[in-house]
Amino acid sequence: MSDATQRSQWGSKAGFVLAAAGSAVGLGNLWKFPYITGENGGGAFVLIYLFCIVVVGLPIMVGEVFVGKLAQKAPVGAFGDLTPKGSPWKLVGALGVATGFIILSYYSVVAGWAMHYVYLACTGAFSGAETPEQIAAVGEHFGALYANPGLNVFWHTVFMAMTVGIVIVGIQKGVELAARILMPTLFVMLIALVGYATTMEGFGQAADFVFGVHTDQLTGAGVLEALGHSFFTLSLGMGAMLTYGSYMKKADGVVATSVVISGLDTGVALLACLALFPITFTYGMEAAGGPGLVFVNMPTAFAQMAGGTLWAILFFVLLTFAALTSAISLLEVVASYFIDELKWKRWHAVTLTGAVIFVFGIPSALSGGTELFGTGFQELVKSVFGGDGKNWFDSLDYLASNWMLPLGGLGIALFAGWRIDDVKRREGIAEGSKLGAVVPFYLAWLWTLRIVAPIAIVLVMLHAVGVL
Ligand code: TRP
Repeated sequence: MSDATQRSQWGSKAGFVLAAAGSAVGLGNLWKFPYITGENGGGAFVLIYLFCIVVVGLPIMVGEVFVGKLAQKAPVGAFGDLTPKGSPWKLVGALGVATGFIILSYYSVVAGWAMHYVYLACTGAFSGAETPEQIAAVGEHFGALYANPGLNVFWHTVFMAMTVGIVIVGIQKGVELAARILMPTLFVMLIALVGYATTMEGFGQAADFVFGVHTDQLTGAGVLEALGHSFFTLSLGMGAMLTYGSYMKKADGVVATSVVISGLDTGVALLACLALFPITFTYGMEAAGGPGLVFVNMPTAFAQMAGGTLWAILFFVLLTFAALTSAISLLEVVASYFIDELKWKRWHAVTLTGAVIFVFGIPSALSGGTELFGTGFQELVKSVFGGDGKNWFDSLDYLASNWMLPLGGLGIALFAGWRIDDVKRREGIAEGSKLGAVVPFYLAWLWTLRIVAPIAIVLVMLHAVGVL
C-alpha cells in the first residue's frame, strides 16, 4: 500500500461511487419512500423531499465525504483527530454510531421480509391470479408474514448473518463487488417495470399523484419526515458516507461523486413510485397502505404479468441485495468505531457488534406479531407522548430517521462548514475535482452548508414540535 496508513482503500474511483450508491440506494428508496409518499398524500411531499435533497442533503454529503477523506478515519476518530483533545465534536461521531446501531436493527427486519418474498415468489405464490379473489389473496401474504413472529425472527437472523459475513471480508472484496454487479441490474429492472406500468390504466392518476402538487395532506410532521428521509435515503447524518469517504484515494474528487450518488438515489426513488403507484390506482388499493405497500402492490401486478414468477423473484432478489449493500454500510460504521478506536480485530468487532444489533433487532421482528412490542408498546407510547402511538419498530424508525439523522447532519454541516481550517477545506474540495476548484461554486456550497442547511434543519424541527 502506497499510503503511510494501513487503511484499506477502494480499488478504483468507480469503487467508491458504486459502494456509496449501494449504501444510498436501499429499502429507503424502494420500500420507505413510496409508502411515506402515499401516507403524506403524494406530490407536495415529493417536492419538499426534492428540495431537501438539493438544499440540505447534497451540500451535507459533500461536507461529510470531505471530512472522511481528510481524516482517513471513521466518524468518532475523524472528529477526534480534527479537533483538540476532549472536544465535544466527538459526540457527533458517537451519535452516528448509535444511530447506525438503531437503524440496522429494524432495517434487517424489512430486508428479511424481502427475503421471505423471494421464497414466496419461488413457490409460485405470485403467478396466475385471475379472479378478483385470487388477486386479493396475493396481497394477503404480507399480513400473514407481518403477524408471524417466528418467520420475522428467522429472516432477520439470516439477513444479519449475511451482512456480518460480507463486512468481515472487508471493504474491497465484499462491498465493492456486490455493488458493481447489483446496482446496474436494479436500475435496468426498475426501468422495465416502469415501462410496464405505463401500460396500466392507473398510470395517469399515479403520475399526477406523485408529480402534481397536492398540499391537502401535508403536515408539519410530514415536512419533518421529508427532511428525515432525505438523510435516510442518502445515508447521511451518521457518518456512513464519512466512513466510505475515508477509504477514498487522494485523486478522487468529492463533489462530482456526491452529485452522481444523490442523482442516482433520487432517480431510483422516483422510479420506484412510478412502478408502484400505477398498480395501486389500477387495482383500487390504498396509497396510504403503510409499511406493507411495496409487498402488497408489486406482487399484485406480478401475479397477472406473463412470466410473473420470474419478475417477482428478480424484483425481490434485487430488493434484498439493495438492502444488503445498505446494511453493510450501517454495520461498517458501527464496527469501524471498534476497529479504529479500540484497535479490535475486524472479524472480532464485526461479529460482536453484529450480534448485539441482531439481539436489539428482535423486538422489531416481533412488532407485528406480539402484543408486547406491537399494540401494547403502541399504547405505552400513546400514553406517554399522546397522538396515536407507535409500535417498537415504527418508534425506532421515527426516532432515528426524523430526529437522530437530521441532528447528526446538523453537527456534520456545522463541523465541515465552520470548524475545519479554511485552507484545508478549500484544498480538499478542489482536490481531484474541477468543479470544486471553481471559487463561486465553492463559496455557494460553503454558505449553503454553513447557513442555509442548518437553518432549514432547525426550522423544520421547531415546526415539528409545534414551536413554529
Ligand atoms: N440509505 C439507505 C436506504 O435508503 C439506508 C442506509 C444505509 C442509511 N446506510 C445508512 C441511512 C446510513 C442512514 C445512514 O435504504
